[in-house]
Amino acid sequence: MVYVEAQNLPSHIGIIMDGNGRWAQLRGRERVEGHREGSKAVRRVVRAARRLGIRALTLYAFSEQNWARPDLEVDALMQLLREFLLSERDDILDNGIRLNAIGNLGRLPAVVRTVLDPLRKDSAGHDEMTLTLALSYGGREEIANAARELAREVAAGARSAEDVDEQALHARMPSLAVGDPDLVIRTGGERRISNFLLYGLAYAELHFSDALWPDFAERDLYEAIASFQGRERRFGLVGKAAAPVLTEGEAAADEAAPRSEASATLLRLVG
Ligand code: IPE
Ligand code: IPE
Ligand code: MG
Repeated sequence: MVYVEAQNLPSHIGIIMDGNGRWAQLRGRERVEGHREGSKAVRRVVRAARRLGIRALTLYAFSEQNWARPDLEVDALMQLLREFLLSERDDILDNGIRLNAIGNLGRLPAVVRTVLDPLRKDSAGHDEMTLTLALSYGGREEIANAARELAREVAAGARSAEDVDEQALHARMPSLAVGDPDLVIRTGGERRISNFLLYGLAYAELHFSDALWPDFAERDLYEAIASFQGRERRFGLVGKAAAPVLTEGEAAADEAAPRSEASATLLRLVG
């Protein structure tokens, strides 16, 4: 049993969905079959996140660097992406999900753009959850794009160099339009970021799972959230442990204060 608190959910979760190739290789199958199985995990996780009430989910599906993989694998990934968007279209629209995409979308082939663009448009007014697919995405590329935009504004005289600050960069990062990621999960056992959401990661909580992406189940998502909820985020400030010690009277009053709300909304979840 995994316990997740209903009030303290991460608002924005990012996932580095890694391990498809190894999942297939372990079974003596082609890497592409791992990607196919991986798209079933995407469906599971999107549904579970929507049910929990997560506001924003960003999935790292294809990096700018992944284009250098063998053509056969890249083509298969694009085809699977198309199939995923086609098969999930109704579910996305029926469940109030806004489907968005970030990255160098101009590099995506027409087979993807012809299904991605209409779904982005048709779901644009939805606000239950924003599902962002990072496609042909790179965190460094995103930072460079934001810097280039600002440089153009300075060159045009629309902004002074002194006004190029942390917020100005932030405002030009499509990945952060839904807010900074609170929790970033990487599956597949590697402990690295691989060019995902670099700027927004500043104060994200990181969770590494050894499960290969095709094996990642609802329960694994709940465990990641439960782990997030057990942590103290300090954002550079002093933590609770450093807060002033309560006097005996204050401590008694604190003890007596009603706390039932938190326990009443504990969600008991099994994967
Ligand atoms: C993640 O799985 C999917 C993509 C990067 C597109 P991988 O294909 O990287 O799988 P492994 O890491 O080789 O097992
Ligand atoms: C990160 O995985 C990219 C995606 C999950 C889309 P990679 O498999 O490409 O990353 P590395 O090569 O292990 O760093
Ligand atoms: Mg990988």
